[in-house]
Amino acid sequence: MAEKLKVTLREKEFREVIGKPVVRVDAWDKVMGKAEYIDDCPIPGCWYGGTVRSDVPHGRIVGIRQDPSFDWSKVVFVTAKDLPGPNEVAMVRRDMPVLAEDIVNYVSEPIALVAAPTKALLRAALKAVKVEIEPIEPVLTIEEALSGEKIIWGEDNVLAKFEVKRGEVDEAFKEADIIIEETYRTGHQEQLYLEPQGMVALPRDDGGVEVIGSLQCPYYIHGAMTHALNLPPDKIVIKQAVTGGGFGGKEDFPSLLAIHAAVLALKAKRPVKIIYDRAEDMVSTTKRHPSRIRHRTGVKKDGTIVAQDVDLVLDGGAYTTLSIVVLQRSLLHATGCYNIPSARILARAVATNTPPNGAFRGFGAPQSIFAMERQMDKIARTLGLSPVEVRRKNLLKNGDAFPFGQRVEDDGARLVFERALAISEYERKRSEYSKDQGPKKRGIGLSLFLHGGGFTGAGEQKINGKIKLFVAKESVELHVSNVEMGQGAATVLTQIAAQGLQIPFEKVKYCQPDTSKAPDSGPTVASRTTMIVGKIVLRGTEKLILQLKEYVSRHFDVSLGDITYAKGTFFENGTPLADFFEIARRIEEERGPLEVIGDYVHPPELNWDDKKCQGDAYQGYAWGASVLEVEVDTDTWEVRPLRDTVVVDVGTAINPLLALGQVEGGSLQGLGYGYLEVIEMEGGRYRNNRLASYSIPTSVDCPDFFVELMEIPCSRGAFGAKGLGEMPLSGGGPAVASAIEHATGLFPTRLPVTGEILTSLEQEGDERRS
Ligand code: MOS
Repeated sequence: MAEKLKVTLREKEFREVIGKPVVRVDAWDKVMGKAEYIDDCPIPGCWYGGTVRSDVPHGRIVGIRQDPSFDWSKVVFVTAKDLPGPNEVAMVRRDMPVLAEDIVNYVSEPIALVAAPTKALLRAALKAVKVEIEPIEPVLTIEEALSGEKIIWGEDNVLAKFEVKRGEVDEAFKEADIIIEETYRTGHQEQLYLEPQGMVALPRDDGGVEVIGSLQCPYYIHGAMTHALNLPPDKIVIKQAVTGGGFGGKEDFPSLLAIHAAVLALKAKRPVKIIYDRAEDMVSTTKRHPSRIRHRTGVKKDGTIVAQDVDLVLDGGAYTTLSIVVLQRSLLHATGCYNIPSARILARAVATNTPPNGAFRGFGAPQSIFAMERQMDKIARTLGLSPVEVRRKNLLKNGDAFPFGQRVEDDGARLVFERALAISEYERKRSEYSKDQGPKKRGIGLSLFLHGGGFTGAGEQKINGKIKLFVAKESVELHVSNVEMGQGAATVLTQIAAQGLQIPFEKVKYCQPDTSKAPDSGPTVASRTTMIVGKIVLRGTEKLILQLKEYVSRHFDVSLGDITYAKGTFFENGTPLADFFEIARRIEEERGPLEVIGDYVHPPELNWDDKKCQGDAYQGYAWGASVLEVEVDTDTWEVRPLRDTVVVDVGTAINPLLALGQVEGGSLQGLGYGYLEVIEMEGGRYRNNRLASYSIPTSVDCPDFFVELMEIPCSRGAFGAKGLGEMPLSGGGPAVASAIEHATGLFPTRLPVTGEILTSLEQEGDERRS
């Protein structure tokens, strides 16, 4: 007879946490001001690093002169010649240098680095460097890049190109009653995380280096540093500091910044920190890709789409960064929520002599969805139909296929659309607002959007994410490489682990990502953390429970099949035998630390052909609909969003309060993209690198939000969750353009819809009338 074990029935301690608005795990530290962002971390003996940058968009470096009257022995100075490894930032490609060596390709491109013991000395040293550059004619626009008159990248300035085809498109166009064509454009957008980019590098005694910083993807940085510093993987450790927002802006850029800090730290033989101020951050870091998207759609008189041609071009800026994958997502979201029986989509990303564009919440989808939604409104306008009718006719239904072949598995598009129309009283307000008199006109517009959760295509298989659960005394540590950056990942992943283990929420401890402790669970991007990484966490919990069960089985000599586990206790046919932490403690005593690795298993039914861009591109689609009411002052063209009704299908809302926050925040960021956020480029230079000149929506601009979460579970996400983080952003732009159209009668084809755009549309209209 086995020794009796202590049994504490813990079912009273356990409570269900999925679908519950538990208080976020990082709340207390942040509210109390205890959270340490990278610039707050005390690092003894730390020097300050800074960057010498190009002042021209394109040119040849002729000389880098250090003023001889400055005492250079007091600082550390680094140019491309001093780099310890290849002058390449390894990302999807390796075309971006760590420091420009011969040619500069954009204004603000890093050329040299300085580290100094004080900020004053750093400023003096940066001033004492003069870079002589012979200017070369730059390529500044999509049109110039496509014309190929000046080649700045590869053979044709094309960074990436994909094509998707479905059906006999030219034949299908013959079936159309009318062909509707339009070109849509979108501008840059700045992520504008609250905390600017920042990184500290600390040299280690063994020749390695540790980096702590504000970041989204510890293992991207780990890979880029291994390559650029020519060091083995075990000599590099990346740790995330508390991070004040990312929105994609800390997906690719931190790899460059981490290398810069590390190169300085290795040469200075002491810790070096580089913290950008807002101006430096805005001029030199990645933005959302501007786009030019041409739609040519064949429609029947009743609004049914029979064929569509899309020519989609993204401006990638000077180097590839993530443009290849951003472009893929643009392409795969190009036809939005509609069933297009015959379609041809050509997608290209081109190089220009402007700062490289990179990841930004939505990752190529907001541009595509803006163009597609505007095109739906254009079809309605042209045929004299309502925007609702045209959408209803063409909505993707369960079983329909996208142009790349993937089948839709639910009726989410229709459900969110009809619900948003109903609760916003769209029809009634539409006719009421049309009667507005006077200069202030109200308008009501709508948009439909979707987002594929997880990496595109075979991406999740390539990442093959892993998580670690480590059982400590009376708690379980969760080690992942997915970061908390304000979006709620730490809380949601803790909820998933606690529910999976059926132990109290308070007993799971989410650990700040650290590559020396956490396996590579992939980057914190692509709306994958809750959905995909959550599922990997669940696999880990199942594995851990099984290990404990096996121990219980041996210890009590009970067959495995007779043991059940619930709410922290193991039972034999209903009789409690032992509790979770007691068994864990015994295993640890006998065999040492108890930990398990949860791993990714690809859903066998999903297949993707990367070469043909065909197949199951995403693991599940989240759907959204927005009905937006605005007031437009037709004297000043001031636009005021009044009320935004947003219905989103999130699969399962693991934490409904955090989910609502994601929807409101994303929607507002989308509205900013739609009418407010202007980046002005002049000769390849950002003019508005201050918050005084780059406006984003504040609480004053925020409409009243009415958000409803719909739950159509997806079997491939944790507890049915779909990817939610990015999707709401795609709704704002097209909704605001459509509401402005309703208020003014003008048809905006470009984002952001500023007063200048409306003025020129009005003048065009006047010219046409006269
Ligand atoms: Mo992102 S834009 O997938 O961080």
